[in-house]
Amino acid sequence: MKILLLGSGGREHAMAWKIAQSPKVEELYIAPGNAGTREVGENLPLSVTDFPAVKAAVLQKGIDMLVVGPEVPLVEGIADYFEADPELRHVPVIGPKKAGAALEGSKEFAKGFMQRHGIPTARYRSFTPATLEEGCAFLETLQPPYVLKADGLCAGKGVLILPTLDEAKHELQEMLGGMFGDASNTVVIEEFLSGIECSVFVLTDGEHYKILPEAKDYKRIGEGDTGLNTGGMGSVSPVPFADSGFMQKVEERIVRPTIEGLRAEGIPYKGFIFLGLINVGGEPMVIEYNVRMGDPETESVMLRIKSDLVELFEGVADGTLDRKTLEVDPRTAVCVMLVSGGYPGKYDKGYEMTGLDAVEGSLLFHAGTRAEQGKVLTDGGRVLAVSSYGGSIAEALARSFRGAEQIGFEKKYFRRDIGFDL
Ligand code: AMP
Ligand code: GLY
Repeated sequence: MKILLLGSGGREHAMAWKIAQSPKVEELYIAPGNAGTREVGENLPLSVTDFPAVKAAVLQKGIDMLVVGPEVPLVEGIADYFEADPELRHVPVIGPKKAGAALEGSKEFAKGFMQRHGIPTARYRSFTPATLEEGCAFLETLQPPYVLKADGLCAGKGVLILPTLDEAKHELQEMLGGMFGDASNTVVIEEFLSGIECSVFVLTDGEHYKILPEAKDYKRIGEGDTGLNTGGMGSVSPVPFADSGFMQKVEERIVRPTIEGLRAEGIPYKGFIFLGLINVGGEPMVIEYNVRMGDPETESVMLRIKSDLVELFEGVADGTLDRKTLEVDPRTAVCVMLVSGGYPGKYDKGYEMTGLDAVEGSLLFHAGTRAEQGKVLTDGGRVLAVSSYGGSIAEALARSFRGAEQIGFEKKYFRRDIGFDL
């Protein structure tokens, strides 16, 4: 079959690497892709939110399945667009329609959904500019620190955690005043939860589900989890504290009620559900839902899926996921992200990368790169994930760090403490 995968990051390169291994795949296209994805498929230069361009590519290439990497096209309704178009309707989309994508696209919807279905999450209320006063009064009932979340998509920047009541009130006013544009017309205020986080991934056909390997990501730029938030500096799978007892609670209290809740609300859902969880004294609670895979978790998780991912996708498309098997590699997988100096602040791009062919024993997933005249150039803040297997976290990390040292580009930076807290 012919598959089109949308996206251009490390997550998409890792997914493309896995999809390309399936004997069912005749052609794999990635749009727009990066310098790495062209090693496993053909890149198509189009924007993931230009639906007519996606349609043209699907018709021209005779695509049999669309796999959506990032959330934005899902929240904007690409799956609805396919279903509504007689020429596209036969092409299954791996990714939910708009109604399901609201689990990520609207924090208020997600919180309400969890409340309706008894899914453990932080206590919350939501506010609009008309209820700013009530919002400030609600803040006074909470203990610091204060968690404010813009309702809509903000490219990962819509959550503020404030140490004092004064700052929280001030930021609430700023958010409701348009700090994130329309995305913060509604703001969710919630109780702060203290614990260690992990990411659990579920693949569902709307009725059945498979729980994929869990992972932990490292979001801060600095070692010891300090400094600014980034798109992710590394990941580890499996997560030692997510043992079978913990995962059983996740399945019973979160995964099952989520799938059943979607069905009860008449929301068909075919695709990934990413549960951002926090372990509060051994009890899993949901910090957020995402409707896609995580980045950089995917750059570890894909290494641990032994089964044919495309066969699982077929199960999602046909509603027969219960008849597919998910086999997981027992080894540890990690990824270490190489980033451009200055990121997540200002940084330069266009530096030539060296040593890519010298790396042995690791997989390289490109995140922000481009090919030009036979060279690979840096093209983003997060540049490249160095992913490795190992018998332990330490062993896998040693491989990734060795690879990370061998790759050269000006102002390269990476965290040397991925997994430090496990
Ligand atoms: P999000 O954009 O929803 O992933 O939130 C960003 C980060 O904020 C999360 O990964 C958590 O580290 C933190 N966070 C969000 N909600 C809470 C909460 N209720 N308590 C503690 N930390 C939170
Ligand atoms: N690693 C977190 C995310 O993809 O949102």
